[in-house]
Amino acid sequence: MALATGHAAAAATGAGRAVAGAVAPAAGPAAVDCRNVTVRFVTDRRTVTALENVSFAVGQGGFLSLLGPSGCGKSTLLRVVADLIAPTGGSMSVFGMTPEQARAKRSLGFVFQDAALLPWRTALQNVELPLEVGGTKGLPKGAPTPKELLALVGLAGWENSFPHELSGGMRQRVSIARALLGGPRLLLMDEPFGALDEITRDRLNEELRRIWAETGTTILFVTHSVYEAMFLGEQVLVLAANPGRVADLVDIDLPKDRDLKIRETEAFVRIASRLRDSLGRGS
Ligand SMILES: Nc1ncnc2c1ncn2[C@@H]1O[C@H](COP(=O)(O)OP(=O)(O)OP(=O)(O)O)[C@@H](O)[C@H]1O
Ligand SMILES: [Mg+2]
Repeated sequence: MALATGHAAAAATGAGRAVAGAVAPAAGPAAVDCRNVTVRFVTDRRTVTALENVSFAVGQGGFLSLLGPSGCGKSTLLRVVADLIAPTGGSMSVFGMTPEQARAKRSLGFVFQDAALLPWRTALQNVELPLEVGGTKGLPKGAPTPKELLALVGLAGWENSFPHELSGGMRQRVSIARALLGGPRLLLMDEPFGALDEITRDRLNEELRRIWAETGTTILFVTHSVYEAMFLGEQVLVLAANPGRVADLVDIDLPKDRDLKIRETEAFVRIASRLRDSLGRGS
C-alpha cells in the first residue's frame, strides 16, 4: 500500500487553541477534525472537565502524537474519536463522518497500553478475533490477511505461539496486527509501549514509523514521552491539565525517513526543548 500524501498541516493559534490550516490540501476530508470539544464527567463526588474547547485537525495519512501529563485528557480524547464517549460540547468528525458512522464502517483500530490478548488463543487466532466477534463479514477485498499482518509487524513464524510464549513487545505487536485487521484508515494508540523496556520501545518506535509509511494509515498516538512523541509524530499536540486543553501544536520538521540516531541531532534537541517548555507552561 502506498503512503497517503498531502498531510493537512495544523497550526497553533492564539488562546492555546489549534485549528487546521491546510498548506497542501489533503484528498477528501480531514481524518480527524476536532472542534471545540469539551468533555465533562459529573459524578456524585465531583465534576471533572477532562477536556475544554479542544480543537485540532489531522490530515489523511498524518501521524499526530498527543503528549501531556497524567490526567490531561489524552485517553478521553481518543475515546471521543473512537465513539466510546460523546462530547459534552463541540464536534468530532472522522473522515467527514460522525465517530459512530466511522466505527460502523470499521474505519478505526484501537491499541491499548496492555496488549489484551486472549491467553488461550495463538497469536494468529488473536489477530483473527475481530473477524469472529462484532459481525465482520470477512475481510474487505485486498486487505492484508491476519498472517500477512503478523509478518508486517515482524512476527512471521510466530503465528502458532500462545501469548505466554511471547515477550511483552511481541504481544504488543500482535495487538497492533489485530488493530490493523480490515485495513482501518485510522489507528488510535493509547500509550501502547508505556509498559515496555527502553530497548524494546525504541525498536517498536522504528517499526511503527515503518508500518505507518507502508500502510498509509492515519495514526493518533498517546504518550507521556517527549522523545517518543516527536520521533513518531509528524506533529505533536501538547495538552495541559485541569482542565484538559491544548497547550501547543508543533510541526516536527524532521526527515520522513527517521532512525533513532535522529534523536542526537541539533534539530531534534531544539524541538524537544520547545515541547518541554510547552509541557512546563501547561502544568
Ligand atoms: N469515566 C470517567 N468518569 C469520571 N471521570 C473520568 C472518567 N474518565 C476520565 N475521567 C477523568 O478525566 C480526567 C482525564 O482522564 P484521562 O484518562 O483522559 O487522562 P489521561 O491524560 O489519559 O491520563 P493518563 O496519562 O494518566 O492515562 C481525569 O481527571 C479523570 O479522573
Ligand atoms: Mg490515559
